[in-house]
Amino acid sequence: MKALVLQQPGEAAIHSVAGPAPASDEVLLKVRRVGLCGSDLNSFRGKNPMVSYPRIPGHEVAATIVESSKTHPHLTAGLNVTLSPYTQCGKCPACLRGRPNACQFNETLGVQRNGALAEYIAIPAEKLYTANLSLKELCLVEPLTVGFHAVARGRVTAEDTVAIFGCGGVGLGAVAAAGFRRARTIAIDVDDAKLAIALKSGATDTINTNREPLHEKLQELTKGRGPDVAIEAIGLPQTFRAAVEEVAFTGRVVYIGYAKEPVAYETRLFVQKELDILGSRNALPPDFHEVIRMLEQHRFPVEDTVSHMVPLEEASQTLKAWSENPAIFSKIMITMDSISSL
Ligand SMILES: NC(=O)c1ccc[n+]([C@@H]2O[C@H](COP(=O)([O-])OP(=O)(O)OC[C@H]3O[C@@H](n4cnc5c(N)ncnc54)[C@H](O)[C@@H]3O)[C@@H](O)[C@H]2O)c1
Ligand SMILES: [Zn+2]
Ligand SMILES: [Zn+2]
Repeated sequence: MKALVLQQPGEAAIHSVAGPAPASDEVLLKVRRVGLCGSDLNSFRGKNPMVSYPRIPGHEVAATIVESSKTHPHLTAGLNVTLSPYTQCGKCPACLRGRPNACQFNETLGVQRNGALAEYIAIPAEKLYTANLSLKELCLVEPLTVGFHAVARGRVTAEDTVAIFGCGGVGLGAVAAAGFRRARTIAIDVDDAKLAIALKSGATDTINTNREPLHEKLQELTKGRGPDVAIEAIGLPQTFRAAVEEVAFTGRVVYIGYAKEPVAYETRLFVQKELDILGSRNALPPDFHEVIRMLEQHRFPVEDTVSHMVPLEEASQTLKAWSENPAIFSKIMITMDSISSL
């Protein structure tokens, strides 16, 4: 079969590779759409320490079942599905506590093992999700689950005011999740275009911190209390700190962003405010189900979110263009329809 292979950093090309041989618990899928995210860009640039080469990237997937599952009767040939790209070892502390999303030995599709930019993949039946959604929507499920998981970690309810720092692919999922739970949802970014999409995704208020003073604006919107929940989805030291500084007394702070440098804190605030400070990584099955429910209710601006639909034969040059000029791309989705003729 054909696949897009990263031979080494900066070099992606279509190659012929061996097709998958599904194990007894796995289902053979024909890949239809693959979304790209920041981690694929890092892999292309050679900046992801978890990737070795050659590697087939891709972990945001819409696919069609080729052969019905023998163990899961609802997974029949011809059905379109999406999938969870993570593995779980079953033995580490996270797995034993029922939180396999944070498995110590997780191997994400396209990162520690070969991914979905291929004609066919074989995936365990328990990792597949069916839904009443288009291929494009199915392909958006996984990236949205990351923000949904963060909102679940923050125990957000309709009583809460939630401030979300960053409305990129990940933060937008958190905005949609908080909105879906009917919380008052304040989206924070430095980019008006991102904030406009956040408003269509469920935000009730926005703050552009390039133009507006963050603290005064949050105080005004929360009658001087501060938000009940602050979610960081950028990964910068100043927004890591702002989450703790701005959140209400006894509030919850949820970190999704990976900071690329150490962050210095006024730890007095952790104690004085008696904060719950939580990390959030990947997602669990209930997060997948919640995203699917939201998309089925057409509560997310799918068309505004996907900036580029690109056939597989243009994937290599698109990765190069994205790497050279990241600002002009938001979500790139690769269509795999022509792959067998390449
Ligand atoms: N925890 C997880 O499981 C997980 C999964 C995927 C990604 N991540 C991390 O989440 C973070 C966000 O990922 P992404 O793909 O959405 O990134 P992104 O670059 O698409 O989005 C970042 C957003 O932050 C905005 N921004 C930048 N500087 C800002 C500032 N000073 N104030 C306000 N807004 C600012 C940008 O305009 C952009 O909209 C990254 O750190 C990434 O590594 C975590
Ligand atoms: Zn992703
Ligand atoms: Zn584990």
